[in-house]
Parts: sequence; structure tokens; C-alpha cells
Amino acid sequence: MSWRTTLVLLAASAAVALSGCRGEPTPEAPVVPIRNMYTQPRYEVQARSDFFPDHRTMRPPVPDTVAQESDPSLPVVTGRTEDDSAWLLTVPQKVVQGFGGWKATLERGQDRFNIYCAPCHGNSGDGLGLVARRAAALGAGAILPPTFHQDRIRHMPDGQIFATITHGIRNMPAYGFNIPVHDRWAIVSYVRALQLSQASREATPVSPENKP
Ligand code: HEC
Repeated sequence: MSWRTTLVLLAASAAVALSGCRGEPTPEAPVVPIRNMYTQPRYEVQARSDFFPDHRTMRPPVPDTVAQESDPSLPVVTGRTEDDSAWLLTVPQKVVQGFGGWKATLERGQDRFNIYCAPCHGNSGDGLGLVARRAAALGAGAILPPTFHQDRIRHMPDGQIFATITHGIRNMPAYGFNIPVHDRWAIVSYVRALQLSQASREATPVSPENKP
């Protein structure tokens, strides 16, 4: 056989062999010579474990674990001063810088506020979001969100509003898991902007009844 014929035959058999590798669907069980990679012992999600004392297969992070993407600065993460003696009075500078200035921070805050807070607190922060109205209509008015345009919340330190978002408060659920740290600060800045925009408003909370 000439080298030319050999080459042609080789090419032809390679073509046949390679096309055989293209995933044609087949109902046949695959032939797997070495099975140990396929049958590794493992737990199913949410399954009970007898290995760990608390029987949870899905392990919680070790206490005090900090996510790699999280901000390493304690005040930024907690809203408290470095020595944990008081609330931060302003949005941390480095957060604002991270967004690229106040304008960008406020815009981000507005965007996030309208998604996460407005359903309950209303677009203007008057406490008359759709959820609140619905709750009132159903006679569940005892858990209405307060208006932000009252002195108590106007004078609340920024860090405390941040922590309220993080942990929730009384009837308000926590948003620490849903909203990243820097976005929470952006929301705080926007709450401040809303308050400034209505600074002349009556300090009495608005309820669905006395809404104009
Ligand atoms: C599911 C509805 C709901 C959502 C969403 C919600 N809140 Fe609230 N919020 C409430 C309720 C209800 C209260 C009143 C809690 C109470 O006093 O029992 C409240 C109270 C507050 C207070 C006053 C806390 C205090 O000390 O009295 C602030 C500030 C606040 N929310 C900010 C926010 C911000 C910012 C967001 C968006 C990240 C948000 N909330 C999202 C329902 C909500």
C-alpha cells in the first residue's frame, strides 16, 4: 500500500471515528468501564446527616465568616462606628466613592429603593405602598409602615437606617441577605433625599384615611 493510500484510509477512519463522538441521543445506557467516578458517596440537598451532630447536611458557614466579596470594613458592614459606640451619622465616604460620587449613589439608591422598599413604604416614603394599602384594606392596619417624613425617622442616624434594612425591625423583614452592603447604603442616601424633598411636610404620620 502506498503512503498516499494509507493517508487516505487514515483520514477516512478518523472521520468515521470522530463523527461517532458527536453526541447522538440514544436510549441505551452508556457503557462506562470505570464506574467509581459515577457512584461517589454523597448527600442529597437538605438530606439528614448522621455525621454532623446537628444532622444538617448543608453546612452553615463557620461563625464570623466574611464573604470574599463583602466589604472588610466593620463600620461599612454594621453601620456602627469603629469602636461600636454609636451609629454612623453619614454614608461612608468610600461607599460613595465606590459608586463614583453622590449622584451615582443616589441614582442607585433610587433604583433599589423603588424595587425593595417602595412596595411597602411608597415611592415617596409616605408609608402608603401597595402592600401597606392592601394590608389596610384587609384590616391589618396595625402593621403599617411608618412615614419617613416624621421627626423621629428624620433624625435617625444613617447607620441606624442601614441596620434597619439589614436586620429588619419588628414587623419589617430583614433585607441583609437580599441587598448587598453598598446598595443598602445607597438606599439610605435616597431615603435622606426623600426626606429632604419633603422637609416641610407635617410631622404627623400619614395614614390611608387622611391621605389627600
Ligand atoms: C414588607 C414591607 C416592607 C418593606 C419591603 C420594607 N419595609 Fe421598612 N418597615 C415596614 C414596616 C411594617 C415597618 C414598621 C415596623 C414596626 O414598627 O413594626 C417598617 C419600618 C421601617 C423604618 C422605621 C424603623 C423604626 O425604627 O421605626 C425604616 C427606616 C424602614 N422601614 C426602612 C425601610 C427601607 C429603607 C426599606 C427598603 C430596603 C424597607 N424599609 C422595606 C415594612 C417594610
